[in-house]
Amino acid sequence: SGVERLSDMIAESRTIVPFTGAGISTECGIPDFRSPGGIWTRNRPIPFDEFVASQEARDESWRRRFAMESVFAAARPGRGHRALASLYRAGKVPAVITQNIDNLHQASGFAAEHVIELHGNTTYARCIGCRQAYQLDWVKRRFDEDGGAPNCTTCDEPVKTATISFGQMMPDDEMQRATALSQACDLFIAIGSSLVVWPAAGFPMMAKNAGARLVIINREPTDQDDIADLVIRHDIGETLRPFVAN
Ligand code: OAD
Ligand code: ZN
Repeated sequence: SGVERLSDMIAESRTIVPFTGAGISTECGIPDFRSPGGIWTRNRPIPFDEFVASQEARDESWRRRFAMESVFAAARPGRGHRALASLYRAGKVPAVITQNIDNLHQASGFAAEHVIELHGNTTYARCIGCRQAYQLDWVKRRFDEDGGAPNCTTCDEPVKTATISFGQMMPDDEMQRATALSQACDLFIAIGSSLVVWPAAGFPMMAKNAGARLVIINREPTDQDDIADLVIRHDIGETLRPFVAN
């Protein structure tokens, strides 16, 4: 079966790089983007230039974020996160590359410097001008008191979740580290991503081209299934549960 084959490939590999998308966190109560009921089936994304240009867009962006707070605050690592953390502790996984913003890889035991967050992190905020960090509690208090999204107390530029929006620059350091990891591994496992958002979706192919074997674990078919050495079209938690060490 797929899981037996995956188990063999993990045993045969020295350096495994997991690459995760929203599908690894759905069992934690966080909706993905493109499945039925996903975020982008309910809300249109707010592009970065709109966020910068419009107070109304910033207010809407923060209202959406506050509406999700109970979901993010309650979320705990799932079986997929725990399996990857087990392989990390065993020395097989040097770091995880993730498109997720939910902080659950860190919560499962990865050191922060071993979580490459391509799309940032939604559990805190930053000024888009001077990059000063803010806690969400501070933003919420200011939003409620001022009746809208606040600006930075230092430079007066807008404060935004520490995430990457469409149209926003990708983080340089993370892109470089993800590139190096993709080119240095012998097994690359894409987990729970539709693989449609670039440049993130380029890493599986980059790893494959550099000589790694490629595994894709996703309920739905992806555009890159045809270049994979193994495709497991099944639930992530069920598939990775055997790799959770206790
Ligand atoms: P998507 O919602 O595009 O894809 C998630 C995939 O996970 C879907 O193909 C689902 O079928 C699959 N899936 C969900 N739950 C699963 C489960 N329990 N078992 C197996 N498969 C499951 O999410 P991403 O690919 O992560 O970026 O989205 C990529 C980027 O698009 C995000 O990082 C975000 C978004 O716009 C930005 O906003 C910049
Ligand atoms: Zn600032």
